[in-house]
Amino acid sequence: MSDILVHTEAGVCTITFNRADKKNSLTEAMYAAMAGALEAARDDAAVRCVVFQGDMAIFSAGNDIGDFLQQSAQGTPQGDDGQRPVWRFLHTLAAFPKPLIAAVCGPAVGIGTTLLLHCDLVYAGDNAAFSLPFVNLGLCPEAASSLLLPQMLGYHRAAEALLLGEPFMAEAALEVGLVNRVVPPAECNALAQAQARKLAAKPLSALIETKRLMKAGQAAQVRARMDEEGASFARLMGGPAAREAFSAFMEKRKPDFSRC
Ligand code: COA
Repeated sequence: MSDILVHTEAGVCTITFNRADKKNSLTEAMYAAMAGALEAARDDAAVRCVVFQGDMAIFSAGNDIGDFLQQSAQGTPQGDDGQRPVWRFLHTLAAFPKPLIAAVCGPAVGIGTTLLLHCDLVYAGDNAAFSLPFVNLGLCPEAASSLLLPQMLGYHRAAEALLLGEPFMAEAALEVGLVNRVVPPAECNALAQAQARKLAAKPLSALIETKRLMKAGQAAQVRARMDEEGASFARLMGGPAAREAFSAFMEKRKPDFSRC
C-alpha cells in the first residue's frame, strides 16, 4: 500500500501518512504525492477542504533522515529551486486557498510540526508531542517557521522550541494557540473529519475569501522567508554537523558535535 493515502469524499480530501513502521517519516516520493494531492484538491471545485492525519500513535517523524543523509553525502542538498518535491509541497501548502485541517496524535517532528503553521484548524490527541529539532540535526528551520513560530509563541518560547528542539506536549500547544482543541487520541481524526464536513457545507467562495483576507499582507513575507530558509537549509545540509547528526541517527548513537 502507498505511504500516502488520498481519499476524497463529500468535498473533503483526506491525506493520510501511512508509513507507520518508519514513524510516518517523509520521503521525496511522499512529498511528491502530497504536492500532487494538494494541487489536485486546489484545482478541483468539488473539494472544499483538506485534512492531514496520521494514526492514533504517530503523526509524522518529519523528513526521512536516510534521505537527508543520502542527499548530504551526494552533495545534492535540498536547495529550494521550487521543483524538488519537498519545496513544491511547502509552497503549495503555504499558498493553499481552501481550508486546511490537521489531526495530530503522537510525535509531530520537524515538518510534522511546521506544516501545522499553515493549517487553519489543528486538533490534537492528548498524546501529541511537537518538536522542531532542526538545530540538533545541524539544520535550520523551514516552512517559514522562523517567522511564524515567534509570531505565534512569542520570541522566547519560539527560541526554546527552535534552539533546544525539545518536545512540547498537546496542552502546551493549546496554550500557545498552535492547536484548537485537545481530545483523546481515539477521537482526534473523527473530530477533524466532523469539522471538515462542516466547512465543506459552507460556500467555498466565502471560505476562500475569508482565508485570503486573514492571511493578506503576510503571503509575500512567508514566501520570502521560505526562500531565505531554503538557501540556509541547503548550505547546512552539506555541512559536517548535519552529516554527523544524520549518520548518528542511522547508526543509533549520540552525535558528536565537538568538531562542528
Ligand atoms: N527518518 C527515518 N527513519 C525514521 C525517522 C526519520 N525521521 N524517524 C523514525 N525512523 C525509523 C527509526 O529509524 C526506526 O527504524 P528501524 O525500526 O528500522 O530501526 C523506526 O522508524 C522506529 O523509530 P523509533 O525511533 O524506534 O521509534 P520511537 O517510537 O522510539 O520514537 C520518534 C519515535 C519519532 C520520537 C523518533 O523516531 C525520532 O525522534 N525520530 C527522528 C525525528 C527527526 O529528527 N526527524 C527529522 C526532523 S527534521
